[in-house]
Amino acid sequence: MTPNSPAPLRAAVLGLGMMGRHHARLLQTLPGVEFAGAVDPAGDRHGVVRDPALVFATLEQLLDSGRLDMAVVALPTEEHLPAALALTSADVAMLIEKPLAATTEDAELIIAAVRHRGLAAAVGHVERFNPSLVALRRRLEAGQLGDVFLVATERVGPFPERIKDVGVIKDLATHDLDIVSWIAGSPITTVAAQTAHRTGRPHEDLVLVNGRVASDVPFNTMVDWLSPTKTRRTRVLGDRGMLVAETVTADLTFYENGQVTSDWSSSQALRGVTEGDATRYALARSEPIRSELEAFRDLVAGDPDAPVVTLAQGFAAVRAAEAVLESAQSGRTVQVAP
Ligand SMILES: NC(=O)c1ccc[n+]([C@@H]2O[C@H](COP(=O)([O-])OP(=O)(O)OC[C@H]3O[C@@H](n4cnc5c(N)ncnc54)[C@H](O)[C@@H]3O)[C@@H](O)[C@H]2O)c1
Repeated sequence: MTPNSPAPLRAAVLGLGMMGRHHARLLQTLPGVEFAGAVDPAGDRHGVVRDPALVFATLEQLLDSGRLDMAVVALPTEEHLPAALALTSADVAMLIEKPLAATTEDAELIIAAVRHRGLAAAVGHVERFNPSLVALRRRLEAGQLGDVFLVATERVGPFPERIKDVGVIKDLATHDLDIVSWIAGSPITTVAAQTAHRTGRPHEDLVLVNGRVASDVPFNTMVDWLSPTKTRRTRVLGDRGMLVAETVTADLTFYENGQVTSDWSSSQALRGVTEGDATRYALARSEPIRSELEAFRDLVAGDPDAPVVTLAQGFAAVRAAEAVLESAQSGRTVQVAP
């Protein structure tokens, strides 16, 4: 550190589970950050914290150990509200894993508490930092597809046994609902959904959503915990072709509209009447959680333009998820409150 450089921000992680372990790993090496510790009553089961003295059983113990500037809340979703309230009382900035909260009521309480104390806060919609989606959005903004006709997302795979408190809509489809409005640049206004409960748990394990955003672009989303293979795909169809982002591999491919016709009939049957060029872009790939933490660190350091996902955006995803649940239960198309 040079004499004039600011003191590093002291950062911690609450929850050392599947997600928290990555935050802990990265916060221990993030420039401008000093790792203050992690809290998990179950300890450091994944062995990611280098100094065992920095693993605490309670938040109180962590707070007693020294100053804390920022914390990542990587707890089961129903625990987000009590953790966020405890952090606001201690004036600690927070990055709350997605979904912001289990209900819109909880999310409103978090937002009110954070605003009351004037704290920096963000939501961990990490897909917004995936290089494939970042590049896709940039290309849409540059007009590569012309008019956008459809945003379609797919997020399917096997059930992660550890998720007990919410169903696939709040746990996974919140990613898609956030991606749709971010990519379309417009909030979701209507949803119509179908769900299935196939594994005998109280919450749904499959959801199909059709909907529309305020700018009139339709979208669909397919999400489940039943598929034997993992897919995370966002497809945007427009006037000049289609962009497809695969966020597991961080690949982005552009399928241009076809100009080339063929008189080979069996080839036409397989490939359609025309086929355009397909280009898979070479992308600079940085780890999305690292980019997310860098943005959060910059926000806490005072950069008002740090590209974090705001609490309002996190709230919109929870509210859209509740509209999806309401539609699935009522069998009706539901308007999402503005
Ligand atoms: N952004 C993403 O892509 C992504 C991916 C997975 C999970 N998540 C989110 O991250 C959050 C955590 O999910 P997970 O999969 O890591 O869950 P997990 O069950 O693997 O981990 C949760 C951890 O929190 C600990 N814990 C529970 N109560 C606690 C408390 N009061 N104080 C401290 N620790 C406590 C548990 O012991 C456990 O180790 C959820 O909100 C989930 O939706 C986000």
